[in-house]
Amino acid sequence: MSRKNLNIGLYGFGCVGFGLYEVLQKTPGLKANIRNICVKDKNKPREIGIENFTFDQNDILNDDDINVVVELIDDADAAFEIVSAALKKGKAVVSANKKMIAEHFTELLELQEKYNVPLLYEAAACASMPIIRNLEEYYDNDLLESIEGIVNGSTNYILTKTFAENLSYDDALKQAQDKGFAESNPILDTGGFDAKYKLLILLAHSFGYVAKPSDIFNIGIDGIGTLELKYAREKGLKIKLIAQAFKAADGKLSAFVIPKFVSPEERLYSVDDVFNGVLTKTSFADTQFFVGKGAGAHPTASAVLSDISALSYNYRYEYKKIKQKEDLILSDDVTLNVLLRHKKEDAETFKKKFITIEEAYTNNEAGYITGTLTLQSLKDIQSGNNGDRSFILQNIVTAKETAIAESVLTA
Ligand code: HSE
Repeated sequence: MSRKNLNIGLYGFGCVGFGLYEVLQKTPGLKANIRNICVKDKNKPREIGIENFTFDQNDILNDDDINVVVELIDDADAAFEIVSAALKKGKAVVSANKKMIAEHFTELLELQEKYNVPLLYEAAACASMPIIRNLEEYYDNDLLESIEGIVNGSTNYILTKTFAENLSYDDALKQAQDKGFAESNPILDTGGFDAKYKLLILLAHSFGYVAKPSDIFNIGIDGIGTLELKYAREKGLKIKLIAQAFKAADGKLSAFVIPKFVSPEERLYSVDDVFNGVLTKTSFADTQFFVGKGAGAHPTASAVLSDISALSYNYRYEYKKIKQKEDLILSDDVTLNVLLRHKKEDAETFKKKFITIEEAYTNNEAGYITGTLTLQSLKDIQSGNNGDRSFILQNIVTAKETAIAESVLTA
């Protein structure tokens, strides 16, 4: 198959932009060259000469020789402006901006359709791990039942360092920032928002469900206290920030991001540092496990490079699952087994929200409840959180177990 020559207009020359520049220098086989680079800050020192840059975004958009726009900037609103303008001009686009893609998923689908141009974004979910293209292409036939995983490198790095090496949360976050893993607003990582944006993208490519960010519930790692860490250590568990989505037989879909206790028998237990790991469960193949570096300049640039390479043979997402129109409904109708830490004054109010309680106790500082509750009750408790409560998921209670739990409660 003959491959197209690609003339790239690059927006952004931060950690990933420079990473891509370096990676492209080392892959001469690919007929892709960067023709122009647009950056915002005229005074920032750069790794390469000023003659390589423009400060006017239209210089790339109006250059008819540029057939691929690679968008690697930080600001999601500015990124959407650039990406939509480029698609309207008939330029193929590669982006790594998960926030922008999650916030504008439907509009971006429409633009690709209307202007008949591809938008690829493998780097936007799990960086180096080729999960989007696998979900899109490989799982087209075998029916996906669930996806579950660690999709944010920074929080996994922080959890690993605080848990295994006893580093303070602030020091671990600083390291994640220094290594170029964290978002410039790290609350996006630590609050579970970045994981939620990625889950939204994965949902579209796995189940064909296009959600809005506000549809997907997320709790991050910023509320995890020393007592939860102690609980995990005593039981030989780790805490991981897990994004998950699963389909019930009745066409209901559940999707959320919540920290979870993970035991040594589980595959995600050994996914540490900046690595991401995703488990897929399908009807016939059963469970499969993907793992790879989830953040950082070269791992992210490698996925951008793979998208650029795919454009050279006219690859585009067909959005097969969306076109299959399964009419799934996103639902809170799921029962979770959790550990809740709360202010001791809240004990009686919160106990009433649980379906079953395994253990509940209070000491002078706080109270704990372990047991089962619905996602809706969990959301109710979390909505009034002023930093005085935290949830860690123990496991999802299956429909059968829920039925048993409910019959015990009503007996
Ligand atoms: N801040 C993100 C992470 C970068 O830590 O996973 C990669 O998407």
